[in-house]
Amino acid sequence: MKNDEIKITYKNNINELVEFSKTLKVLLVEDNKESRIQTIKLLENLFTDITVGVDGIDGLDKFNAGRYDLIISDINMPNMDGIEMCRKIREISKDIPIIILSAHNYTKYFMDTIRLGINGYILKPVNLNQFINTLNEVIEKIKLRDEVHIYKRKLESLNNDLEAQVCQRISEIYTLNQEIKDTQKEVIFTMGTIGEIRSKETGNHVKRVALYSEILAKHYGLDDKEVEMLKEASPMHDIGKVAIPDAILNKTEKLTIDEKAIMDTHTTLGYEMFKYSNRELLKMAAVVSYEHHEKYDGSGYPRGLKGDDISIYGRITALSDVFDALGSSRVYKPAWEDEKIFKMFKAEGGKHFDPKLVDIFFDNLDEFLSIRDSLK
Ligand code: C2E
Ligand code: SIN
Ligand code: SIN
Ligand code: FE
Ligand code: FE
Repeated sequence: MKNDEIKITYKNNINELVEFSKTLKVLLVEDNKESRIQTIKLLENLFTDITVGVDGIDGLDKFNAGRYDLIISDINMPNMDGIEMCRKIREISKDIPIIILSAHNYTKYFMDTIRLGINGYILKPVNLNQFINTLNEVIEKIKLRDEVHIYKRKLESLNNDLEAQVCQRISEIYTLNQEIKDTQKEVIFTMGTIGEIRSKETGNHVKRVALYSEILAKHYGLDDKEVEMLKEASPMHDIGKVAIPDAILNKTEKLTIDEKAIMDTHTTLGYEMFKYSNRELLKMAAVVSYEHHEKYDGSGYPRGLKGDDISIYGRITALSDVFDALGSSRVYKPAWEDEKIFKMFKAEGGKHFDPKLVDIFFDNLDEFLSIRDSLK
């Protein structure tokens, strides 16, 4: 074959085709010896790795034993013809390129070749020019297919990377968020206990008030988030006591009017500590500190707020706190008997306490008592 003949018909770069062809592993299946030798000679212009099968069965065996990039096969062969062999090959590989070589007009096999996805068809005797044209088309298909595979794999791995990264970030953010929340809770709880420790009460007072407030909030109809927050914030109600002098805080006798006035400032002091915070939880703690000694009838302190002007967080904490204070011994008083507490609570509905909360308290008395028992 003359080079210029090739150049004219090969639509892209012949060097590129030759270079690419060298990388291909080719399986040639041809039973006729003469035709085989002739075809091999021709193929050797392009390919360096050629395996030969001498009939359909041999071709199929060779195919199964190795890895090929291209199959070039005759049709009419003893033992197993080319169509049957291609059918079997297609069961194994849907996309290995196959070029059929045929001595006759192939209309008889037209439907078979379509069905089997034959990639090229060449009449014998094979002429290099025609072969290169067909090969060119087939190679374009192989390249395209390989590119699609590469992109598909790249895309998949990109996708996986991205997914993994997103998962990683989400879990980091979640952990961080959880840590912030936990830290907040811990700080608040610790601050709450500081007030109690200084006044010789135990951390259990703080825990009990949290759980009483939770029950009241839930039955009052606050949403889950508010219930959870009040459970965290209500134990902070007495944090302002940290600023009350020991002499007053731990005085075993009844406080004088002046001392009680100083003592009462623990509400405002607690409020001052939290009021500038932007954190929802600390804002709630500010309200709870400020309002837990307000009374429903307006006779409480520090502002003398009345009824629903007292926030529900303040009203709930007031009841939880007093129930717990009465049932506990303090430096200044012994614990009260239950009957005395219940009598006082019944009398104070609408006076000291929100009557709706007093109802909730008695409706759920068992729960309050079992919390008290478990956190003595
Ligand atoms: P606390 O001991 O945690 O008591 C909280 C609230 O429970 C009291 O608010 C009051 O409403 C109620 N409470 C507690 N014990 C009694 C009681 O024996 N009788 C009655 N009727 N109610 C009781 P309050 O009165 O505004 O007191 C706030 C805080 O002031 C108390 O917190 C306590 O730390 C302190 N405090 C009050 N009175 C005295 C006292 O006579 N001596 C000393 N050392 N501290 C007192
Ligand atoms: C050939 O093999 O090239 C012609 C005869 C046949 O196809 O069996
Ligand atoms: C061949 O096997 O080469 C010819 C078979 C055909 O085209 O019918
Ligand atoms: Fe208080
Ligand atoms: Fe208290």
